[in-house]
Amino acid sequence: MHAKKINIAIDGFSSCGKSTMARDLARKLGYTYIDSGAMYRALALHAIRKGWITGTEINEEALRKHIREISITFSPNARGGQDTCLNGECVETEIRTLEAADGASRISTLGFVRKELVRRQQEMGKAKGIVMDGRDIGTVVFPDAELKLFLTAPPEVRAQRRFDEMKAAGITPPPYEEILAAVKERDLRDTTRAESPLRKADDAIELDNTRTGIGEQLQWALEMFHRIPAKE
Ligand code: DC
Repeated sequence: MHAKKINIAIDGFSSCGKSTMARDLARKLGYTYIDSGAMYRALALHAIRKGWITGTEINEEALRKHIREISITFSPNARGGQDTCLNGECVETEIRTLEAADGASRISTLGFVRKELVRRQQEMGKAKGIVMDGRDIGTVVFPDAELKLFLTAPPEVRAQRRFDEMKAAGITPPPYEEILAAVKERDLRDTTRAESPLRKADDAIELDNTRTGIGEQLQWALEMFHRIPAKE
């Protein structure tokens, strides 16, 4: 691990390359990467499977009753990344569908859901040396993070990336227009919800990565990291 051990918060809209940047940065620094969105997605998948999330309704009572028993962990995979596990089962592919994303966006508006996942995330950050990406990492989870980055890109760019990503992962993507509509709907929900809406922390550094390649955005993040003075 890099001698400078801090927490790094990366926030931004959905599908704007946060996870790629966070994963690359963690690998480069020897830090632990935590995808907080995967935790909301795994919880949503569990709720969908149990029938607690339907077209219009969420069975909040059932979710509230069982939330503490639902285990969400990460396990290193052969590709050098991490797989999300739900009660011990690897669900990395299942949580990447539009249905799981939509469910995650919906349950993430619930105060008790956020409270429980934030508690778990803060626990993981106690030892430092964490790169965590999400929506509220710099504002709520680690308000004292030494480095906060905020990524943006227009919805059209993000929808196209999502489309390409699904194809590359062997998932048949829905039509581009459908993905774009879902991205816009999620943006609206993520930024307007009452509980911890997506917001750039005052001390976060912003990057619009529309024209920034993956290698280039990593270089930018590393530069920001090296600007942070090491503590005595
Ligand atoms: O980053 P993602 O697309 O995997 O996130 C899925 C959903 O979870 C997204 O709609 C917003 C929610 N989320 C959140 O509310 N807070 C976080 N820290 C991470 C994700």
